[in-house]
Amino acid sequence: MDKIAEEIQPIIDKYQNEVGALIPALQEIQGKYNYIPKQTIEILSKEFHIPMTKIQGVITFYAQFRTEPVGKHIIRVCHGTACFVNNGDSIMDTVKQTLKIDIGETTEDKFYTIEQVACLGCCSLAPVIMIDDKVFGKLDSTKVKNVLKKFKEKENNNE
Ligand code: FES
Repeated sequence: MDKIAEEIQPIIDKYQNEVGALIPALQEIQGKYNYIPKQTIEILSKEFHIPMTKIQGVITFYAQFRTEPVGKHIIRVCHGTACFVNNGDSIMDTVKQTLKIDIGETTEDKFYTIEQVACLGCCSLAPVIMIDDKVFGKLDSTKVKNVLKKFKEKENNNE
């Protein structure tokens, strides 16, 4: 058994005989790798007796699923109403310009990936971004540049 097959075996065992188990299994796989590697789709197809095209259809339908590897840290820039009316677009522009990548892309050093999301649930802090599970609010262009820089410095110092 190769590495990925071995790694996802516990997920297969957990869900194999359950009806409607495809989505939770995909969620766990994504939780493990941060995306859904193609090989895991092949394994799920075989083990769950579901055609690959059907699994791919489910992955495409749900925006939460990714099929490309992402950076070590995900930056979620809020595009909800409160953030939007508080200059959220300029925050997104600053993030993109600072990191020199677009939405859905990953920096060359594989450190950051940018995502655009709807309300992050902390509208009183608008405009808001999240890096992994940390919230940064009441941002402007200068502040967001500092957040990106300081977060990276801190992470690099912890390594
Ligand atoms: S709209 Fe951005 S946190 Fe709610």
